Amino acid sequence: MSAKQEVILSGIRPTGRLHYGNYFGAVQHFLRLQDAPATCYYFIADYHALTTIAGRRDIRAQTIDMLRTYIACGLDPARSIVYRQSDLPCTAELALLLGMITNIGHLERGTTYKDKFIKLKEDPKSEGNPLSYGLLGYPVLMAADILIVKADLVPVGDDQRQHVEMACDIAEKFNSRFGAEVLHIPRAVDRSALRLPGLDGSQKMGKSDNNTLDLLDDAATVLKKMKGVPTTTDPAPLDTDSTDPDVVIPKMPAGVGVLYRLLSLVAPQEVYLDYIRQYRDGGKFYGTLKKSLAEYCTAFNAPIIEKFNDPQYSDDFIEDFLRENAKRVTPVALDTVESCREAMGIGRSLYRG
Ligand code: TYM
Repeated sequence: MSAKQEVILSGIRPTGRLHYGNYFGAVQHFLRLQDAPATCYYFIADYHALTTIAGRRDIRAQTIDMLRTYIACGLDPARSIVYRQSDLPCTAELALLLGMITNIGHLERGTTYKDKFIKLKEDPKSEGNPLSYGLLGYPVLMAADILIVKADLVPVGDDQRQHVEMACDIAEKFNSRFGAEVLHIPRAVDRSALRLPGLDGSQKMGKSDNNTLDLLDDAATVLKKMKGVPTTTDPAPLDTDSTDPDVVIPKMPAGVGVLYRLLSLVAPQEVYLDYIRQYRDGGKFYGTLKKSLAEYCTAFNAPIIEKFNDPQYSDDFIEDFLRENAKRVTPVALDTVESCREAMGIGRSLYRG
């Protein structure tokens, strides 16, 4: 008897282009997992993109570009089911059902929501958008994304860990309230999940903070961004013989730490170790480090940029691709929504049969 395959699911908002945080926090795991005996669902979260926009933005075009970047990174349509969230509108129905059992207090304690709340209180214009019902309910929609395909594993960066925990809480509550194992509960996010700092030395690389290194940045842009990373000629001592990035990088000044983190991700290990040695020795080497890191990042980006611009991935190709993938994910999603309707007592939808 063959065991049931693991189900993997993850999503990314179409907020412009993919950056290194997205890649090393999430996409590189998507690529690794598509080689596993698993069913992989990856989607572009275009509904979620609506929670932060102030006016009309061409989310459709951004979604298509994001899909093209996914493919350029190596996501293989033959091995993963890659779809657009809004092509699965029953996700919104599941979010509505889950919203009925989710406490507002639980949502208000979410760190992403709290951060936005504080930012808006300090400067009501900072986000260009008031606090919305959609923003408060963001984790409920995310729970629907995860639970609708009965995911076992949700590969995400560290910043999304709490949202996945909230999805597990919501599913447990649903199951205990409605007396059945209707919803499948995924595993918690691994403690080793990455949080890549921003090029400005801040805690997190993120599109809205304008501190990203992007996969589609060309050589000149990469070098310019590297040069702008704040470094200090007065480095803090490492106080350890370890060379493990997770041990030494937190001891470095913020901007310097970003450079070493990137180096540990894109350069050969001996290059990383050599720069750790130079750090311990002191001296002026940040100019060379930035130049050399810029070269590694440019080489990393080159094949992605080439594939992104490949004319075979035209808009029509991507639209057809999305249509086919939406068809592949719809049956499993409808099965979950119908089970929830039944468990809650409104019964199955007549028109879906
Ligand atoms: P989003 O679009 O902000 O980010 C997409 C993925 O990239 C990861 N990431 C990072 N990882 C490490 N360091 C960083 N600086 C960094 N910045 C971004 C994120 O952790 C994420 O894995 N809410 C989600 C999208 C979403 C989703 C879902 C994810 C909607 N529904 C269901 C998983 C399951 C988001 O905004 O990700």
